[in-house]
Amino acid sequence: MNKDTFKREINDKVRLIDQALDNYLFNSAAIPETLHHAMRYSVFAGGKRLRPVLLLASAEAVGGDAVLLLPAASAFEMVHTYSLIHDDLPAMDNDDFRRGQPTNHKVFGEAMAILAGDGLLTEAFGLITECCVSGNISPETVVTVIKELSQAAGPFGMIGGQVVDIHSENQSIDKDVLEYIHSHKTGALFKACVRAGAIMGRGSAEQLAALTRYAENLGLAFQITDDVLDVEGDSGKLGKTVGSDERLKKATYPSLYGLEESKKLAADAVDRALKALDMFDREADLLRCIARYLLEREN
Ligand code: IPE
Ligand code: IPE
Ligand code: MG
Ligand code: MG
Ligand code: MG
Repeated sequence: MNKDTFKREINDKVRLIDQALDNYLFNSAAIPETLHHAMRYSVFAGGKRLRPVLLLASAEAVGGDAVLLLPAASAFEMVHTYSLIHDDLPAMDNDDFRRGQPTNHKVFGEAMAILAGDGLLTEAFGLITECCVSGNISPETVVTVIKELSQAAGPFGMIGGQVVDIHSENQSIDKDVLEYIHSHKTGALFKACVRAGAIMGRGSAEQLAALTRYAENLGLAFQITDDVLDVEGDSGKLGKTVGSDERLKKATYPSLYGLEESKKLAADAVDRALKALDMFDREADLLRCIARYLLEREN
């Protein structure tokens, strides 16, 4: 797949995801108005939509019909957006910019930012059930996907990672702890998106295992590049403040390994992600391009 086709495929999927999110989120006139306004504010502030794109691309890799899975794809983006709103709060990373805009709490206040995040998280689980209707997905399969999401987002997934991330500030930590942080705070949701797409696309057990290995390595590469961009990225392009990790003395790949070695470790993880797709033919090309793009991304 050449660069132009890749861009077009991503843009087409992002457009579908944005339309679905617009459709599924209540409009800002719903009551309580401030809450719905705050929820929509962060969802439409300009994210890359990487997680829902991955869900759809993974479904296509196993021969599924991506369009039917838009409720689930939107749900994963809602959970991700909630995690960003809470991650930016003064009690956590205390950041002022996100997706090129002032953070949710800067605009709506801390209480509303917490509640907008809670609203997005809760709404997401109900939204997945829409796949029974839109995608003709069996209730058993939808329950499996809900379980994947709750495990990925909960205390044994993203929340566990966020806790160790906070506890590791100002500490000297070893590589196992760092790997725990990255595979949980970021990797778990990536893995669940990819697995959800493969499960609802009716992939085989072998395909699911291969895509799981792909996603684990992709998630690691993604968070290593996030750490690298926090050191040497351009905040205008990133849409968030650089240097936030150094300010909070976070445990990151550059702080443990240095910048050059971190980039090499990200490239190694991308190689492993690509290798995991060996059993697939052209139908996994979008997943391959996403993995390669991680090494050159600027936002
Ligand atoms: C940022 O994720 C948070 C991390 C897990 C590192 P993204 O870089 O995917 O953020 P958006 O969705 O594009 O804003
Ligand atoms: C955030 O990690 C992970 C989650 C939101 C779960 P970071 O704190 O590194 O993300 P950014 O750099 O603020 O986007
Ligand atoms: Mg954080
Ligand atoms: Mg942060
Ligand atoms: Mg970061």
